[in-house]
Amino acid sequence: MIHNVGILGVGHPRTGSKMLQILLNSWGLATTHEGHSIHGIISWQFATDADAPLPAYRLDEVSQKVQPRDYTFENIIYHIRDPFYSIPSIALTETFSLKFRSKWGNFKISKNRVENTIKSILAWDKLILEKNPDIIFRIEYDTQKLFDFIKNVYGDGVSMNTSEWDNKHNKRNHQGWGVLMNELEQVDVSLLEEMNNFCHKYGYKKIFDTSNKSLIREDFNIDDMRIVPNSEHYYEFIRELRTHPSNLDGFVEHVEITTEQQIEYMSKYGKDYEICLEKKVPVGFIGVVDNDIRFAVSPEHHGKGIGTYMIWDLIHKKPNSKAKVKHNNLASIKVFERCGFKLYNKDENFLYYSL
Ligand SMILES: CC(C)(COP(=O)(O)OP(=O)(O)OC[C@H]1O[C@@H](n2cnc3c(N)ncnc32)[C@H](O)[C@@H]1OP(=O)(O)O)[C@@H](O)C(=O)NCCC(=O)NCCS
Repeated sequence: MIHNVGILGVGHPRTGSKMLQILLNSWGLATTHEGHSIHGIISWQFATDADAPLPAYRLDEVSQKVQPRDYTFENIIYHIRDPFYSIPSIALTETFSLKFRSKWGNFKISKNRVENTIKSILAWDKLILEKNPDIIFRIEYDTQKLFDFIKNVYGDGVSMNTSEWDNKHNKRNHQGWGVLMNELEQVDVSLLEEMNNFCHKYGYKKIFDTSNKSLIREDFNIDDMRIVPNSEHYYEFIRELRTHPSNLDGFVEHVEITTEQQIEYMSKYGKDYEICLEKKVPVGFIGVVDNDIRFAVSPEHHGKGIGTYMIWDLIHKKPNSKAKVKHNNLASIKVFERCGFKLYNKDENFLYYSL
């Protein structure tokens, strides 16, 4: 018997299936991670039509014999995670499913864990795209987009609740890229290029410098980052960042701000600001005043993803915030667009973005 179920959530292992389940559950849908519930199934194995091989896959409260071929779905959600983070996680912790992935992803297992992982992510991408997913959900940026999609399908009964969300769901500890660098050096350039193209396709930063087979990105470790409330302690930090010659051009008003003016402004609006710390050192600020976002990152940390991280954090807290961006502020535009903001207006001076 073929069961028709609402949702299939599918992606490569270690790319956010658990987070997808928690989000859907928090919005009132019954879906189960690696199992079957009224509203659907979330499972990486359903990228294939293979009989379920793993014990986790006794899908069933329903029947011990349920297999992917017994299901059809109304909506397919493809969850994706930035491969810069998923590659080490998969290579170092997801060994038990490699044989299955290589068989169904049609690649040969080598001794090189980075190579296996890249091939596996690309193979799963191909398998899932062949299923014509209805929505691609980048777990870092697309919570709002997913919510809008779900609301559209399931109606007003669905309500947003992101209180359960944090980036450490289903986390497995591992040593990160550091222990994989020798293997990275042995991977074919063409495969690294394919991975970079994958990143480009889904709006992630490129990972590899193919000229010397190294990582382009600094090892920006999400565990080192904290967003904390603003306090008097940070007023001067914000002032310096706001008026730094490398940052000044990005802001709407191009003004010098004295320490006294800063204290006065902060006594009124300081509570609307937050500070981004990396290993406890302040590296950026973000504020929303009159629903308008303003943010900056210390110039020596530009381009590492901190601006994106701050906006991504903000949209979970204040999804109605808007941004007014100068036409030439390409870094800012990139960050907002990557985080799912859409241009809703423009004039001579500014581009106006909202989610
Ligand atoms: C805007 C700002 C906060 C972004 O912070 P950040 O930490 O550098 O942002 P991210 O690293 O997450 O992303 C920036 C992206 O813009 C790109 N970028 C930076 N300068 C760029 C330029 N001149 N042209 C094109 N792209 C540029 C970076 O390469 C990066 O893209 P990538 O992720 O694809 O590599 C930071 O540039 C800043 O402090 N600017 C000055 C203040 C400002 O303009 N604030 C915004 C007011 S609305």
